[in-house]
Amino acid sequence: MTRNILILCFTFGCLSSAFAIKCWDCRSDADPKCADPFDNSTVPITDCRTLGDLDHLPGVRPTMCRKIRQKVNGEWRYFRSCAYMGEPGIQGDERFCLMRTGTYNIFMEYCTCNSKDGCNTAGSLKGNIVLGMLATCLWSYVHFIHH
Ligand SMILES: *[C@@H]1O[C@H](CO)[C@@H](O)[C@H](O)[C@H]1NC(C)=O
Repeated sequence: MTRNILILCFTFGCLSSAFAIKCWDCRSDADPKCADPFDNSTVPITDCRTLGDLDHLPGVRPTMCRKIRQKVNGEWRYFRSCAYMGEPGIQGDERFCLMRTGTYNIFMEYCTCNSKDGCNTAGSLKGNIVLGMLATCLWSYVHFIHH
């Protein structure tokens, strides 16, 4: 009985740490350092766990970081924050971002990542820490059961 509770706590501990991520949170119209090349000296890093649910997405938690680069009428704007929806990168590859070209001279690039805290800088990274942690959890779980 005690052992089961321990296993349960352990699993939940693992899971919640796997979904804990910190992201840079800024917009270049308020802080020019938010643009590329990114300068983290004045930009705050936000623990996404502390954010509330979105009104239109109750129960959905932010588990990724995102970076949006937008060109509107020839002017670049950058946004960095925690992200609620989608998958990291394009098919899991964080080197790639979603591109959109709209009407009225608008271009948008949308990048998501969860490979590490503060991954929404300019550089993109490989690896998926969440999958790594889940694998570790699973391994530990199996290990617990058999001992
Ligand atoms: C901020 O940037 C500097 C220089 O690139 C880096 O060494 C440092 O680790 C960064 N800080 C955080 C909190 O990531």
